[in-house]
Amino acid sequence: MPARKRVYSGIQPTAVMTIGNYFGAVQNWVRLQDDCECVYCVVDLHALTAPYDPAELRRASREMFVSLLAAGIDPDRTTLYVQSTVPEQTELCWLLAALTSLGDLSRMTQFKEKSGLLKSGPADDDGAFVSAGLLFYPVLQAADILAYRADRVPVGQDQSQHLELSRGIARRFNSRFGRLFPEPETLHTPVTKVLSTADPTRKMSKSLGPRHYIGLFEEEDSIRRKIRSAVTDSGVPPAAGHGDEGDGDGRTASPGIENLLTLLAACGHEADAGRMREDYFAGTLRYVDLKGTTADALVALTTEMRERRADILRRETDLEGRIMAMGERARTMAGETLALARERMGTYPPAV
Ligand code: AMP
Ligand code: TRP
Repeated sequence: MPARKRVYSGIQPTAVMTIGNYFGAVQNWVRLQDDCECVYCVVDLHALTAPYDPAELRRASREMFVSLLAAGIDPDRTTLYVQSTVPEQTELCWLLAALTSLGDLSRMTQFKEKSGLLKSGPADDDGAFVSAGLLFYPVLQAADILAYRADRVPVGQDQSQHLELSRGIARRFNSRFGRLFPEPETLHTPVTKVLSTADPTRKMSKSLGPRHYIGLFEEEDSIRRKIRSAVTDSGVPPAAGHGDEGDGDGRTASPGIENLLTLLAACGHEADAGRMREDYFAGTLRYVDLKGTTADALVALTTEMRERRADILRRETDLEGRIMAMGERARTMAGETLALARERMGTYPPAV
């Protein structure tokens, strides 16, 4: 049997995981555990490149760690860790920086966007501050991936450019110092894009405010309320055959209806979603039924997650200790790669 592929991915720490994060990324991470050897990271060092509060960052990293476990990341099969607990990666980042072109870094779309964004911020002293960390962000990302010699990296489309850069760095290392790194493939899975139920023209996001997102661990009442008040459309379904774009049969419902159908299907109720979609175009769908079914499906899914989360918090009296222990595992893996990289590049190991 061929060795299982190694999968690596990272997520920024945020205290609240939304159902958008879950359906758009984390659910896929959970599924990949069945066929691959997975390493997942809470990238707190990457988070330092945007304005933040130190105490809040520490809390957000811890919350994200717990949320991932509650969402189904299985620590017996998967290495889950917080980035800053593995200094080997930071050292590798420096080694790899020597193999990264400044031109390539300054051409990264995310860098251009984020540095531009900061520049046009409030006109105070910090307004024009663009950290070198923002420029280096993709080198650290390459170090994350290459430290574990990962074959595959599940990410959204917006990370393609960073992945291409990681491959370039791996290639340059391999040709200059001898083959060490696989060139990591981007694993683009069909992503479920979840929209705000309060404004289905926008992507569900914490930054829009509490009305605009549903937390994965939110209480049942609150989830039901948000689905009940979800914006649908004027209430007059279009005639059959309406619309000329969209998926499958080429028909698209209003954004609010599509969003509810997407959520319903993402909860594993594809058949119900398909049937209700048909009803919509036949003009017989009662929105109250769609909302009720979607709320039930979401509540069933999230109740399980919420209970698992409560269970983890109850059992895990020493969460920080657990984070440290998981980091140790990751350090061993990254340490082996780093030792080889140092040797090939001609630097010393750390003094003991
Ligand atoms: P963020 O917290 O925005 O950095 O997102 C973390 C991960 O969740 C990324 O892979 C995003 O693509 C994904 N994600 C966030 N919001 C949504 C959403 N509304 N729909 C689908 N995926 C999302
Ligand atoms: N940059 C990624 C994002 O914003 C997060 C990330 C950091 C990552 N390191 C990674 C993703 C390594 C994949 C692999 O979503």
